[in-house]
Amino acid sequence: MAASPSELTEQRLDPESIAAVDASDLLADVAGLPEHVRDAKWKVESAQLTPWDSPGGMIVAGMGGSGIGGLLARAMLGDHASRPILAARTYGLPAWTTPDVTVLCASYSGNTEETLACYEAAGALGARRVVVTSGGRLAELARADGVPVIPVAGGFQPRAAVAYMTVAALEVAGLCGAGPRMGSELDVAADHLEQLVVEWGAEGAEDSQSKTLARALCDSVPVIVGSGVTQPIAYRWKTQLNENAKIPAFAHELPEMDHNEIVGWQNASSLARFAAVFFDDADTHPRVQERIALTRELISEQATGTFVVASRGVTAVERVLSLVLLGDLVSLYVAVLRGVDPTPVDVIEELKGRLD
Ligand code: F6R
Repeated sequence: MAASPSELTEQRLDPESIAAVDASDLLADVAGLPEHVRDAKWKVESAQLTPWDSPGGMIVAGMGGSGIGGLLARAMLGDHASRPILAARTYGLPAWTTPDVTVLCASYSGNTEETLACYEAAGALGARRVVVTSGGRLAELARADGVPVIPVAGGFQPRAAVAYMTVAALEVAGLCGAGPRMGSELDVAADHLEQLVVEWGAEGAEDSQSKTLARALCDSVPVIVGSGVTQPIAYRWKTQLNENAKIPAFAHELPEMDHNEIVGWQNASSLARFAAVFFDDADTHPRVQERIALTRELISEQATGTFVVASRGVTAVERVLSLVLLGDLVSLYVAVLRGVDPTPVDVIEELKGRLD
């Protein structure tokens, strides 16, 4: 019989209880985020790239846990991005792509067919290519074509290599002239993340923000709402809740949500248990902050809970990574509360296999 909501939320989230469910120790990779940020910088350096000029900006081609790095890097650059930084998440590049765009092909496994198609498309166009991968077909092709490869260590779930993908995108943006270099911001952010791992990690208090939120979300369908800088983080939370906790979760953004989805909430509780999480950040527009308060008020009767989560840190790099870490931990804790091993994503593997 399924556990009742109160049974779920009463469970402890200490290292032993987590280890009992987290069979492959995904927690170690999530808590390793600060170290991954530092190591990722070295990995980019090891590719020995010298700066070049791409007046058309940068496209990050990649899917899922690999593609999100481009969106997070763009959020970190914010107003400091001087050229377009866009994502390609399908079989090919946007029609307007020209040879003066850098195409960063990001695939942890190196075998994702959509990313391989973008790699070929960028080559056919004569666009400058850079690859970030742990191996696979993408590494083979890049080596044969003389395309630089930023290496990523093997042995992770692709979504756990988020720091590697994000740092690679940020550094390549700097190298091709789409934004400033952010090396020292990354060092500061890694130190800041270390403190947050202590506060929010398994050894942290049972009433830490991460564990409290996991208990609040574990028996509902979470809807995560970002805005501006936090928009891709809302998507990251959604996908981590999907893949780690194996539950449906959705992401939306303000102010857009107030022009459509807010109406749908009028009947939410008659369909399912929905909870809403809103992100607040130093860069959130003041009118969006007012909208968060009002939207919460207007949907609260239909929700199992509504929550506002503030980013932590000073620079955009720190703030973005703080919320990425929190979402990764929350999704892992929700998995543990639900008794679900957070690591395997069998249905993704099955689908990829059936397409072969
Ligand atoms: C699995 C995961 C997926 C993959 C995606 C693309 O942990 O997060 O979203 O990232 O299926 O695969 P890669 O990253 O190998 O190109």
